[in-house]
Amino acid sequence: MFRSLVTGAALAVTLASPTFAATYNTLSGEAPLIIAHRGASGYLPEHTLAAYELAIQMGADIVEPDLQTTADGVLVAMHDSTLTRTTNVEDLFEPRNGGYLVSDFTLEEIKSLTVEPASSTASTEYPGYTPSMSDPFKVPTFQEVMDLVNAHNSSTGDVIGIYPEAKVPSAETMNRQILTEMKANGFTEASDNSFVQTFSAVGAKELADIQDELDMDNQIAVLGYVMLTDDGFGVYDYPTGTINLLSDLALFADGVGVYLGYDLSPEFIAAAHELGLAVHGWTFNQSDYDSAFDTQSYWIAAGMDGLFTNYSLLTREVVDSLTSPVPLPAGLPLLLGGLGAFAFLRRRKAA
Ligand code: G3P
Ligand code: CA
Repeated sequence: MFRSLVTGAALAVTLASPTFAATYNTLSGEAPLIIAHRGASGYLPEHTLAAYELAIQMGADIVEPDLQTTADGVLVAMHDSTLTRTTNVEDLFEPRNGGYLVSDFTLEEIKSLTVEPASSTASTEYPGYTPSMSDPFKVPTFQEVMDLVNAHNSSTGDVIGIYPEAKVPSAETMNRQILTEMKANGFTEASDNSFVQTFSAVGAKELADIQDELDMDNQIAVLGYVMLTDDGFGVYDYPTGTINLLSDLALFADGVGVYLGYDLSPEFIAAAHELGLAVHGWTFNQSDYDSAFDTQSYWIAAGMDGLFTNYSLLTREVVDSLTSPVPLPAGLPLLLGGLGAFAFLRRRKAA
């Protein structure tokens, strides 16, 4: 099944045009976006400046910071609401209020921590990569993540996007703060390749409304789990326990970020595209090329618009393998056939 769809995609690549440009079933017709999930988190400690920098060097199009808020109101890149899984907080601090909530520690305290590899394949170094910053494995602020991306874009002309996730989904304060900071840092338009995401349709609508108020137009993605209902495809909304139909989400969202399971299918992607919604899947976690190719090329052939990946390099290689110009041996029969037909027509004309 995987291979036959891939063959179909490869054929589309081969026959698309004389310039051998690849075609995609994505909403835009462009190559799917490689979204560095928590940075290059399969290789380095997640949600660190080094992980974001390495992801960009590996060819990611967008970096994803999940966001939490410190006790003194600063947005920091961190998936969990607690500091324990990814940092050495327990070595340095006693518990507060019975635990280690990010929201119970100041930025200064959090900056004293070191982020440690949480993935089984991650390390504190990657062959050939030297971090450009002096403290590559501290918890970065959202501001520092945007600074890194903006510095890269300014020096290269690239348009690497950011994809912040409001981890407190429908907290108006957090949503407004994220958008205000994005605006101050120049991430305002869809053409900036940036999205804002959250696990709540209510929160996503709130983000859309605040964007209107602030005259911004970043793309909004609703996260959740695909469900097929009697009324059509929908996305299960974790905070409310309800299923929102795609047609309702399309009223304010630009895309859906969906778990790679439940009722996700090529038909779901087609239904979302019919409504103008992009589909981004999470999380692609294959750590070897063959498995990455098998899984990712299937969803790419089905038209998936973006892949949240822990292994930016492997996903870049998969996408590039489907984009490459036709190698000469494959194109040679077509070329010879064309030349033969040309010669035949010339002979007929001469006769
Ligand atoms: O935001 C997409 C994906 O990252 C959702 O899962 O738990 O890794 O934030 P999580
Ligand atoms: Ca996330």
